[in-house]
Amino acid sequence: MESTNLNESESHSRKEWHSDKSERLFERQKKLIPSGSSSLMRTSSWEPYPLFINRGKGSKIWDIDGNQYIDFLMAFGPLINGHSHPKINNAVKKQIRDGYLFGAPNELEYKLAKMFMKFVPNQDRVIFSLSGSDATFNAIRLARAATGKDVLLKFEGHYHGLHDYAAISVESPPVVSGLKRFPRPLAYTAGIPAEVMDTVVVANWNDPESLERILKIRGNEIAAIIMEPIMANSSVVLPDDDYLKAVRELADEYNIVFIMDEVITGFRVSEGGAQKLYNVKPDISTWAKALGNGLTISAISGKAEYLDLIGNGVAYGGTYFASPISLAGALENLRILSANDFEAYRHLKRITRKLAKGIEEVGDELNEDMLVNWETGLLSFAFSELRKVKNYRESIQSDWEKYQAVQKIMLKKGIYLHPDAFERIPLSTAHSEEDIEAFINALRDSVKEYKETEE
Ligand SMILES: Cc1ncc(COP(=O)(O)O)c(C=O)c1O
Repeated sequence: MESTNLNESESHSRKEWHSDKSERLFERQKKLIPSGSSSLMRTSSWEPYPLFINRGKGSKIWDIDGNQYIDFLMAFGPLINGHSHPKINNAVKKQIRDGYLFGAPNELEYKLAKMFMKFVPNQDRVIFSLSGSDATFNAIRLARAATGKDVLLKFEGHYHGLHDYAAISVESPPVVSGLKRFPRPLAYTAGIPAEVMDTVVVANWNDPESLERILKIRGNEIAAIIMEPIMANSSVVLPDDDYLKAVRELADEYNIVFIMDEVITGFRVSEGGAQKLYNVKPDISTWAKALGNGLTISAISGKAEYLDLIGNGVAYGGTYFASPISLAGALENLRILSANDFEAYRHLKRITRKLAKGIEEVGDELNEDMLVNWETGLLSFAFSELRKVKNYRESIQSDWEKYQAVQKIMLKKGIYLHPDAFERIPLSTAHSEEDIEAFINALRDSVKEYKETEE
């Protein structure tokens, strides 16, 4: 499918995708807003400019020039039920009529907490916040308060937001980060105090032996191990069999709080997140994205011994935490996902499997080495000779330039995909089998076109 608003001959003759208004607005915006938009993820890797999107419905979005795309970015993950879902719209509209924000408890909070427990059983407590970063930041603080220890252990290539304790070794080029067994913590941003860097230890993921080696040396200083249960910010990388269980055991052995960051996997890879899928119970979990289908809400859940420190020595709160509008939208979002015994997840699994198979077939057909990794509702593909990747250092070994070139051609064909090969593809209940077929056909044609121009 070509972008609909381009005149046919124009769209076919152009080598590159094109949005005149986006280009103009980006130039204008850069003069007033640093980097041109309020989150670097929205502009980085987009060459020469990002598309300005001003409408979305179901699985489709329209740029400011009116070109239509099938969305395979889905706002980086939240839109599990697609853009502008009518039922969620109604719930939000009703709440807008009743008021935006009160600075007081609200009954919807309890309703959402009860609904949350239906999705994620075996949690003693849940409390809401605004963003994924709020959730991970507060979870780490709870772990430190509970253990009386200061050090955080995180993994190379895992992302938990941009607060100081998390923005470390998100990217970690091996040449400067040292041995895989003992990666050196690398600041992802300027401005992190050296004292903070000293409180973070970095480990290689999916590697229980190296984790154990680090814990033997520093285990009694470490308050928490935080991880994405499926690494989904450095393309999608699945945990090896029993890896999460091994981490659970090591955390127990060293009296360390195990924080599972389910901001991406939560309400996506299964109704109970990755912890249900892999049958591993963390001490504290953090949730965001698919909880609110685009409304701003996140959550921290877990054992009472940790969560009950809130209000008992540990400060917690925020003006916008659990706003009634977000609560109303999230509640309806979870109602939709839980309908017919969680039918949504069977649909998500079907279409993700179809997409994975289709991409692999395109690779075989065109004699391209393509690596596809997926779990329900979550997928990444890479131009890579590796047949399996286990960690960040293996995951970066793919042809990023080819990915970006193919992404540009796909955009011209009406498929909206992030140009950064590390961004995963989050599917939604709004994606149909036809959307998946459109992706596969566009990929096949785009790889062919790429090869023709390269040869
Ligand atoms: C696993 C994970 N944790 C935390 C965050 C931070 O969430 P937010 O961007 O809502 O602050 C993200 C964001 O992508 C994430 O992927």
